[in-house]
Amino acid sequence: MKLKTEDVRSRFIEHFDGSTGSIYASPGRINLIGEHTDYNGGFVFPGAVEQSVMAELKPNGTRTVRAYSIDLKDYVEFSLDDGKGPSATHFRFVYGVCREMMKLGVPVEGFNTAFAGDVPLGAGMSSSAALESTFAFAINDMFGENKVDKFTLAKVGQATEHNYIGCNCGIMDQFASVFGKAGSLIRLDCRSLQYKYFPFHPDGYKLVLLNSQVKHDLASSAYNDRRRSCENVVAAMQRHFPGVQTLRDADYDMLAAVRGEVSEEDALRAKYVIGEKYRVMEVCVALEEDDYEEVGRKMYETHRGLSKEYEVSCPEIDFLNEVAQSCGVTGSRIMGGGFGGCTINLVSDELYAPFIDAAKKGYKERFGKEPLVIDVVIGDGSRKIC
Ligand code: GLA
Repeated sequence: MKLKTEDVRSRFIEHFDGSTGSIYASPGRINLIGEHTDYNGGFVFPGAVEQSVMAELKPNGTRTVRAYSIDLKDYVEFSLDDGKGPSATHFRFVYGVCREMMKLGVPVEGFNTAFAGDVPLGAGMSSSAALESTFAFAINDMFGENKVDKFTLAKVGQATEHNYIGCNCGIMDQFASVFGKAGSLIRLDCRSLQYKYFPFHPDGYKLVLLNSQVKHDLASSAYNDRRRSCENVVAAMQRHFPGVQTLRDADYDMLAAVRGEVSEEDALRAKYVIGEKYRVMEVCVALEEDDYEEVGRKMYETHRGLSKEYEVSCPEIDFLNEVAQSCGVTGSRIMGGGFGGCTINLVSDELYAPFIDAAKKGYKERFGKEPLVIDVVIGDGSRKIC
């Protein structure tokens, strides 16, 4: 169901003193290619989606934040000066963003807020980044005279994940949420933070997500393990090749040189990341030539790497990927951090209906439920609605 401004407003009025505040929104994201490359200093290719988190905020003249989660029907109050904050994760995002904005010197005051979202949770579409970006953008506007630049707002969301949630994520999700632009994907160099918008209108193709409905709630520790593997390999490489700062700088020969010094598992993880670095560059060239068949081939290669080398897929997602392949879909792969969530599929217009049909039927037979179909519409980034 599409999230509407009126729904958030009516709940805000109902839960607080009847008056209204300002409404802000930030989207979830897709990622065409470049997975688990952001924290390795590489390139990513995300775009914002139309699904978003929306929040109404109004200063309340105290040091207390009164927050109501419309979706979870849950309410909390916390003091901005409390060093610990609330324990429920959905409120820790809000708390973390407030504290990170305060660290930047923004004079955050207490406020009332009600928020809701239509980014599916745990689906690899970055519902948490959407929540963080919404509050970072709102607080900057409401208390900070919009003095904090957009990159720093994205970093506030990332720091919230690191410091209050325990997920050592990269910058892709928050970046895409803040910088999204309707109709465009964004290539971001996660080392230099240079970015370029790529208008994305693949004539004759659609992008569609299939949500396996396997939630990746408990994936934080496995995600952090992957990141540690990459860092282990970099540490070993640095002993031979001092110029290597991240796996972005590495190639297969360097990996071969340190094979005896790192675990097999770590080497396999690094192999995936190095391969993904080349794939992103190849996709950039293919996009410039409108060669979507090549883009699709790279998506399948990425999936194989994520499944067999990085090992962040699961049987449900591998199944959806195989259905795509057997239907002749141009490209398909697991999207986002992994361990469940969605496949992203690049499918020609004529194959769209038969593919969705086959995926629904096959998945239901095998796993007892249908995958949820999400047609991708590339939307705008963080904004004030009213
Ligand atoms: C999660 C993280 C991102 C990124 C992706 C994998 O979404 O939040 O920073 O690492 O996984 O590409």
